[in-house]
Amino acid sequence: MSVTNFPAGASSASAGIPITKVTVPALAEMKRQGKPISALTAYDYSSSRLADEAGIDLLLVGDSLAMVVLGHENTMAVTVDEMLHHTRAVRRAVRRALVVADMPFGSYHGTVADGLANAVRFIKEAGAEAVKIEGPRVELVRALTDAEIPVVGHLGLTPQSLHRMGGYRVQARTADTALRLKDDALALADAGAGAVVLEGVPREVAAEITAELPVPTIGIGAGPECDGQILVFHDLLNLTFAPAAKFVRRYADAGALIRSAIEHYRQDVEHRAFPSDEESYHLPEAARKSMAAAHKAGILRKA
Ligand code: KIV
Repeated sequence: MSVTNFPAGASSASAGIPITKVTVPALAEMKRQGKPISALTAYDYSSSRLADEAGIDLLLVGDSLAMVVLGHENTMAVTVDEMLHHTRAVRRAVRRALVVADMPFGSYHGTVADGLANAVRFIKEAGAEAVKIEGPRVELVRALTDAEIPVVGHLGLTPQSLHRMGGYRVQARTADTALRLKDDALALADAGAGAVVLEGVPREVAAEITAELPVPTIGIGAGPECDGQILVFHDLLNLTFAPAAKFVRRYADAGALIRSAIEHYRQDVEHRAFPSDEESYHLPEAARKSMAAAHKAGILRKA
């Protein structure tokens, strides 16, 4: 047992600190005001709650959870049901940030009707406030928008296209492909996307798209001119087991901290230094006396 959830009535709002919920229109307003959008991936209750309390604007339940949480080699294997399970946990933790659910590989690659049905599940069954889809799927974005489902697009290095791309490679490195990327971003915005993630594209390309797009760009490996930035939670805290990509900044070494704390705990257990008397429950005085009396009676009986 561990007490982690919000006690009834104990939200920050009831503590007198007003919460202004981040919404998709609020992201557009931030772009208009030139206010950078902070975004981070999220997968579970405790870390999402910390990120929300730290003031992150957008929490993405990324399909990167396939790799950083579930240990798969790439993002392809994660299922809609697994994504729903994690989205629900994040939803329970978050009061302020916009909760966006990533639609996993295969869940929107068939018909528009199938993509729409799966997106509805994220909103209805898990409480997501928007879904993210990879690639220039303009028709699907329009259908989702018509169905009142806010959409975040994702262009550039789209990890679900791993096999087609032949590896995780920076995209839009020629004038032709850069212009195509810009057209795709404009088409997504025109179809109703509320924001577009730009991943693994040259800074200059992302800057030009950001300047021309009417909705915010959220960059990851796309330079500082994007309207917002997103990182994978485990990259930011060094909870991965591989060298960091060029665009990652490690803000803490949680991996080292956790390993050292757990080693310390193991040693304490092995040396019977944990738990201490103070960390133990005790019988009340009266019960102790009755037990002592019972023991005495038992000893007398045995004798
Ligand atoms: O799944 C994910 O983590 C993502 C972000 C990197 C944008 O899609």
